[in-house]
Amino acid sequence: MSNVVARASRLLSGRTRSVESHTRPVDAAAILSGLPVPVILLDPDNRFRHANHAAEQFLGISAAGLSQLRLDDLLPKDNPLFLLIEHVRLTDSTISDHELNLHSPRLHKHGITVQGSPLPEEPGAVLLVMQDASAARSLDRQLAFRGAARSVSGMAAILAHEVKNPLSGIRGAAQLLEASVGPADRVLAELIRDEADRIRDLVDRMEAFGDKPIARTAVNIHRVLEHVRKLAQSGFAAHIPFKENYDPSLPPVWANRDQLIQVVLNLVKNAAEAVTQEGVIHPEIILTTGFQHGMRVAIPGTNERMDLPLFVSVRDNGHGIPDDIRPHLFEPFVTSKAAGTGLGLSLVAKIIGDHGGLIEVDSRPGRTEFRLHLPVVTEKDADQ
Ligand SMILES: Nc1ncnc2c1ncn2[C@@H]1O[C@H](COP(=O)(O)OP(=O)(O)OP(=O)(O)O)[C@@H](O)[C@H]1O
Ligand SMILES: [Mg+2]
Repeated sequence: MSNVVARASRLLSGRTRSVESHTRPVDAAAILSGLPVPVILLDPDNRFRHANHAAEQFLGISAAGLSQLRLDDLLPKDNPLFLLIEHVRLTDSTISDHELNLHSPRLHKHGITVQGSPLPEEPGAVLLVMQDASAARSLDRQLAFRGAARSVSGMAAILAHEVKNPLSGIRGAAQLLEASVGPADRVLAELIRDEADRIRDLVDRMEAFGDKPIARTAVNIHRVLEHVRKLAQSGFAAHIPFKENYDPSLPPVWANRDQLIQVVLNLVKNAAEAVTQEGVIHPEIILTTGFQHGMRVAIPGTNERMDLPLFVSVRDNGHGIPDDIRPHLFEPFVTSKAAGTGLGLSLVAKIIGDHGGLIEVDSRPGRTEFRLHLPVVTEKDADQ
């Protein structure tokens, strides 16, 4: 494989020569491996001749493992990617295809954009550059979720007013009955009280969608995570091991602490529910924080951009998000759980949206990660 790297490097270094002549020579292989985009080189028999670091991550297989494989080992022969590759070979030109599904027992990638190019130095070899369009679409979707969350907020206000008062009347009456009736009827009275409590909890959760302005302060994200971990481990996640990879040098985030707790709690609860499903052998939840440079978003209604340099990730090793849920993941009332309300993630999307942050989701069997990108305290905030 190294031979091909050297050739690909020569090819790249040819392209970068004008830059190199003014500065220190750059190792083109290092550029290739450092590219954040998956790049794969196939030989004329569709064997993997080179895969950069991003491609290893994308395919979930190390370069050493890939060097033993052909593309047909990863994908069924009728996958349209093979047609694209043949086309590149036939026409000796660059061809791209969008919305490809790379689906097999080993790969679960949807909506991928692939660009295939011939390699002039090696007839029959094809260079594939992959782009996961789902990341871009997930941003689109998040904007849509915010809309969905907003439509819930109006309903939440009505529910809070119109349901909560009569509900407390019903609950009170059931409690009075409990004290005065015989054992058989007491069970029924308790049932009324429990169900009334369930409706009240639901309305409470819906109320959180209200459009109140948020009060922000400088929040230490690690205290939030520790708080949630303790809550989880003393309750719903009592027997699940947690791993923490925290970057202690992170600055405070500019946020509402209680709402952030709610967000992380919802994600950790989902993770706990995912890993306690049948068939998860060594369940674990991994909490990670760190810097991620280069995450910028437009501030709605302005030309300004906001940096989101800090990320918080909640990862689990459950079976992954069910395929039918994925397109509607953050919409309210979408759930695969018998006792779920489907409000957890829509609330997460609403709160993170209110904070000007972003959520990324990466899920496959055995690994589901929700990654929050958040703003940190700037000088301007500190002056407020
Ligand atoms: N970590 C995860 N692993 C697998 N699936 C997940 C994960 N997180 C969320 N999901 C899927 O997304 C759905 C929606 O999640 P959400 O938190 O909004 O609602 P819920 O968990 O079903 O109900 P609630 O949060 O109200 O108890 C879940 O039902 C589940 O199918
Ligand atoms: Mg949930």
